[in-house]
Amino acid sequence: MSNIKTKSGYLVKQGGTNKSWKKRWFVVQEKLVCYYKTEKSQLLQGIFVLTKKERSEWVYFLENEISSRVVDKVSRDDFNLLAIIGRGTYGKVYMVKKKDTSEIYAMKILQKDMLTKNQQISQRMSERNVLMRVRHPFIIGLQYSFQTPEKLYMVLDYAPGGELFSHLKKNGKFSKDRTRLYVAEIILGLEHLHKMDIIYRGLKPENLLIDEGGHIKIADFSYVRTDLRKKSGGKTNTFCETPEYLAPEIILNKEYTEVVDWWSLGILIYEMLVGMPPFYAEELDDLYMLILRSQIKVPSSVKTAARDLILKLLDRNPTTRLGSNGSSDIKKHPFFSGINWEKVYNKEYTPEFLPQISNGTRSTEPDKEFTEEYAFGSLVKTKTVEEVDKAKFKEFVFIDNPEGNGTSKK
Ligand SMILES: Nc1ncnc2c1ncn2[C@@H]1O[C@H](COP(=O)(O)OP(=O)(O)O)[C@@H](O)[C@H]1O
Ligand SMILES: [Mg+2]
Repeated sequence: MSNIKTKSGYLVKQGGTNKSWKKRWFVVQEKLVCYYKTEKSQLLQGIFVLTKKERSEWVYFLENEISSRVVDKVSRDDFNLLAIIGRGTYGKVYMVKKKDTSEIYAMKILQKDMLTKNQQISQRMSERNVLMRVRHPFIIGLQYSFQTPEKLYMVLDYAPGGELFSHLKKNGKFSKDRTRLYVAEIILGLEHLHKMDIIYRGLKPENLLIDEGGHIKIADFSYVRTDLRKKSGGKTNTFCETPEYLAPEIILNKEYTEVVDWWSLGILIYEMLVGMPPFYAEELDDLYMLILRSQIKVPSSVKTAARDLILKLLDRNPTTRLGSNGSSDIKKHPFFSGINWEKVYNKEYTPEFLPQISNGTRSTEPDKEFTEEYAFGSLVKTKTVEEVDKAKFKEFVFIDNPEGNGTSKK
C-alpha cells in the first residue's frame, strides 16, 4: 500500500441538500480526496484535505468499496455456493460467488432453531451487530447480512489464506518475525475492539484467518461481549468450545474485563513460538486446574523478550497483567522494539508467508488445488458443491418473505 500514490473507486456519498445517496468516483491522493460524478467525468464535485491516518482509512474504504455495497439489497439468491469451508456447531460457512460481480465471499449460515435451543440467538445477533459496526484492516469485514425465518446469513470478506491453525499445524511453529507481525496486527485489531467497548473472547488459531496479502483477519465474533466490565454469567464452559485460551478469571466466574483478551494473546504467542499451547489436558477439569495453578514453563528456544512478554500476559491477576492499563504497554514491550505501529496498520511490512492465489485478488476463484490446500489440517474436508450430494442442499433453498425477512442494508 505504501507504493500506491493514488487510489480511486466508486463510493456512495450522501448529498448535502436532499440527503439522498449517490454513487461518486473518489480519487485519494497524497493529502487530498477529490470526487467526480463518474470515472470519466472531468468536472470536480468536491475536495477534502486529509491527515495521514484519514488517508489510510480512505484507502481502506476504497479497497473494500464498502459504501457502494451498503445501499444494495441482497438475498441468498444473489449467491452461488461453491464449497464448504467451515462447519461449526450452529451452522456452516461456505465459499460463495456473488452472481452479478463474480466476487468471492465467505457466507456464514446459522440455523435459527439450533440457536434458540441453546439460547444463543442474542449472542449471534451481537456477532452480526458488532461486525456491522466494526471496520478495521485486521478484522474480517461483513459485507451483507440478511435472514429468513429459519436462518441467519452473514456474507463476509473471503480470507483465502485459511486459518492460522492450519499453517501452525503444517509448520509446527512460527519464526519470531512471523509471529511478531501476526501478533502486532492482532493487537491493533483487539485494541480497536476494546476502544469500542467490545471484548472479543474468541482468540485462538482457528478464528484467525490470513488474507490474500498474508495479513491477519480476526474472524468469528460468536463470543463477543459488548457489555464491557460486566459479570460473566452462567457456566463458563458453555460458550467456548476450545477452553485452552480461557483466562483464569473467566474460569473462576469472576467479574472480568477486556483484559481477558490479552491473556488469550499470551497463550497464542506461546503456541505460535512453541508449537503447542502452554496448558493442555484431555479432561476439562484437569485443564482448568493447569490454567489456574500450574507453573508456566517456557522452553529455552523462546528468547528473552518473547518469554518476558508471554509471562507478563499470562499473569493470573488481571489487574497487574500487561495490557491492564491499555494496549500501549504491550506495544511498548521490547519484543516489538523496532516495530513501527503505523506501518503495521498500513500493512507496510511484508508478511513472511504469502498465500498462493492464482490471480492475486479476492475476486478470483481459488483453483481446486488451492481449495484443498486451504482445508489442510482443519477438521473440515473442503468439497465442491458438485461433489456433495445435491439433495443435501435442499435445506438451502431461500425462503422468501419479502416483508419480514429482515434484509439488512449492509
Ligand atoms: N471470511 C472467511 N474466509 C475464509 N474462511 C472463513 C471465513 N469465515 C469463516 N471461515 C472458515 O470457517 C470456519 C468457521 O467459521 P467461524 O466464524 O469461526 O464459525 P464458528 O462459529 O462455527 O466457529 C473458520 O474457522 C474458517 O476456517
Ligand atoms: Mg470459530
